[in-house]
Amino acid sequence: MAQDIQNIMILTGAGISAESGLATFRGPDGLWEGHRVEEVCTPEAIARNPALVHRFYDERRAKLAEVAPNAAHDALAALDAAWDGDLLIVTQNVDDLHERAGARRLIHMHGQLQSALCAACGVTVPWTASLPPGTPCATCARPALRPDIVFFGEMPYAMDAIDEAVRNADLFVSIGTSGAVYPAAGFVQTARHVGARTLELNLDPSAGSIWFEETRLGPATQLVPDLVRTLLG
Ligand code: APR
Repeated sequence: MAQDIQNIMILTGAGISAESGLATFRGPDGLWEGHRVEEVCTPEAIARNPALVHRFYDERRAKLAEVAPNAAHDALAALDAAWDGDLLIVTQNVDDLHERAGARRLIHMHGQLQSALCAACGVTVPWTASLPPGTPCATCARPALRPDIVFFGEMPYAMDAIDEAVRNADLFVSIGTSGAVYPAAGFVQTARHVGARTLELNLDPSAGSIWFEETRLGPATQLVPDLVRTLLG
């Protein structure tokens, strides 16, 4: 597979962090850490109940100290370090496991737990502690800092850079995502349109499996290192 591949784009979802102990969103009970996603991940939710939403992300931010990257994160970081062509990891995840594994060419399209966003002036700032509602922004002084999470209905980050990477890809790999949320779920169709190879690595078939040239089913900690070994020859 590796001989005619120069540019790689990789999309990851909650499934790549599952074996590190972080909950996925659409597990069997459909709840995310005990909440319906819509209760804690919409502009209406944070307007209606800021304390609940801020607390929800405080708990998830604190949990990062209890988990570590797994073999799938490590394999992608090794690929990133060794790959001479273009490579971009676009993650839907808001955890920091890709960075901690050493990934560099990385975009968090849905934001990050360890960042705060000022709802008033738009700046983002690294944030590792809890973030109570009404925390003042150091730039504009207004009490408007919120979790730097892209809520449903909001525009994901870096869509121009992501679109360019998909359109230039020779290989598009989707790892650990249900294909339930756009625009990420549509990247595979763009990749196919430009003639890229398309590969899905997932525990179960996803909503988008039909769009992939190949789907491999299994845990990411097995499938991703295998893929990276093949790509690095
Ligand atoms: N290895 C590989 N895949 C796995 C593993 C594993 N160990 N465990 C679970 N998966 C797969 C599941 O089969 C599922 O298809 O990971 C996927 C997780 O799907 P979701 O829980 O829907 O998570 P994700 O696709 O990342 O959600 C996308 O939805 O709620 C929004 O913004 C949120 O970024 C999130 C987006």
